[in-house]
Amino acid sequence: TDLNRIRNFSIVAHIDHGKSTLADRLIQLTGTVAERDMQAQLLDQMDIERERGITIKANTVRIEYPAKDGNTYILNLIDTPGHVDFAYEVSRSMKAVEGSLLVVDASQGVEAQTLANVYQAIDADHEIVPVLNKVDLPAAEPDRVREQIEDVIGIDASEAVEISAKTGVGIPDVLEAIVTRLPAPTGDRDAPLKAMLVDSYYDSYLGVVVLIRVIDGVIKKGDKIKMMRTGGQYPVDRLGVFTPKMKDIPELGPGEMGFLTASIKQVRDTRVGDTITHEKHGATDALPGFKPSQPVVFCGLFPVDTNQFEDLRDAIEKLALNDASFSHEMETSAALGFGFRCGFLGLLHLEVIRDRLEREYDIDLITTAPSVIYHVHMRDETMVELHNPADMPDPAHIDRIEEPRIKATILVPDDYLGDVLKLCQDRRGIQQDLTYAGTRAMVVYDLPLNEVVFDFYDRLKSVTKGYASFDYQMIGYREDALVKMQVLVNDEPVDALSIMVHRDRAETRGRAMVEKLKELIPRHMFKIPIQAAIGGRVIARETLSAMRKDVTAKCYGGDASRKRKLLDKQKAGKKKMRQFGKVEIPQSAFISALKMD
Ligand code: GTP
Repeated sequence: TDLNRIRNFSIVAHIDHGKSTLADRLIQLTGTVAERDMQAQLLDQMDIERERGITIKANTVRIEYPAKDGNTYILNLIDTPGHVDFAYEVSRSMKAVEGSLLVVDASQGVEAQTLANVYQAIDADHEIVPVLNKVDLPAAEPDRVREQIEDVIGIDASEAVEISAKTGVGIPDVLEAIVTRLPAPTGDRDAPLKAMLVDSYYDSYLGVVVLIRVIDGVIKKGDKIKMMRTGGQYPVDRLGVFTPKMKDIPELGPGEMGFLTASIKQVRDTRVGDTITHEKHGATDALPGFKPSQPVVFCGLFPVDTNQFEDLRDAIEKLALNDASFSHEMETSAALGFGFRCGFLGLLHLEVIRDRLEREYDIDLITTAPSVIYHVHMRDETMVELHNPADMPDPAHIDRIEEPRIKATILVPDDYLGDVLKLCQDRRGIQQDLTYAGTRAMVVYDLPLNEVVFDFYDRLKSVTKGYASFDYQMIGYREDALVKMQVLVNDEPVDALSIMVHRDRAETRGRAMVEKLKELIPRHMFKIPIQAAIGGRVIARETLSAMRKDVTAKCYGGDASRKRKLLDKQKAGKKKMRQFGKVEIPQSAFISALKMD
């Protein structure tokens, strides 16, 4: 195909601004899918994605568009994940295309994810066409939003296309803008093959399907290929494009995007961003900028029912085969038994995996407090990466501890600004910037990631009644006065409740935790001290007094069935308890105790 007749692009938007609806419209208008095959939000494949309304895995679709200039163009749309947890995938996919449609809901305006995603597009040197969606809504203010795009993002929005992805208004203008305003790809057909591995997923019939963008050279069915980073070599079984149905084609040349299958066993054997070349006479240098995505948030996952440990292991291994950014290793906890320490790209990723384990595999889980990776610098100048507060080395040998920090961007209506500033301040944030765009404030904070991973997002939503939008990126490590706080119940440390905390906040957190635990742990026949401690020093203490009489006593021995009911109820309650030394701690306590409110 003539390179001048190809356009490769992505759509960037804040969640719910209409990215999927617009993609559906583009596909529909070009007749790529018969009307009856049209299913809302074609690009979002997994049910869970559809339910949660988020797009996780990048996906591509090839559209043929007869333009006004009389030529037919091939438009390759690549769907990018919208959320920061998948920032690395977003930036990879962006490098595979030359332009972006920036979709902004004209009734809402620019949001935090709009910014994060558009900056990625700008970084990837994209030509950007602003699109104002939802102009059918009475609340739409396209002129105001146009101005906002210019003020906040700093790109020319005078020729923004006004559309309604819902009614179809303006969609033909979007197609023309793609052809006339976005650049054609470049590439050399005669050079050795260089194709970027954009994404991969597991299909139960086809095995691993790899999405590629050819930069130079030509790839054909039957070719022997090599992955330059992993060294894996495979014969290409199948080559094709998504229309969005899979359609086989004999070859893919420069500028083109499509998929291949090659008897690859598991998604872990493919690395997003890797360079694919021919086994013989291949390219000598790989495409730049490859870096594997690293988990940044860790937590323990334990089955509520200890008999489900093997089921959990199977389920986790299955999920891990197809998600190279999800890590896991076995963990034992005195309080929770056998489980796994798992690593995620961020909180959303954690939630998605936990949901899938609970729903698809039917396993009830206890999730321990999410933790970040601390850099513990020892006196002997070695450095330990601490993923789990329970593994903290002896403080006597520690020189200093560094924690990851993020740059958080929050957009919020004026009315709630005070609450947002207070929340960020409470979480040890350092204000970097505060600007206004109309009646909305944009605040930028430098925050410790560990203060954000637990319930920051929930708190932000609740103090702003859901009106704030939030996005973040990692900025690096910084030293701070961090200590490990332990909780002792009946004088024994409960490892699942150990947390890393700033020295100045330790007492408040410790007090709150022991007070909560006092509420959450039922009385026993004996007195139970509950303490929070740093090293050997107790910083907060509560005592749960002993139970005075038999719970069945209040039945006066009269009504036998009532008595049995009460005992049954106690038994059922017991199942949800974990024996800890002589003390029983309810499962729910492990998470509740850690919440800060
Ligand atoms: P994610 O996939 O969750 O990132 O969201 P998205 O950006 O793809 O948004 P989606 O296309 O799912 O649209 C979000 C909501 O807005 C849906 O309920 C759509 O029906 C609605 N919507 C999309 N476009 C329009 C429009 O032009 N007008 C109106 N009134 N509603 C629209």
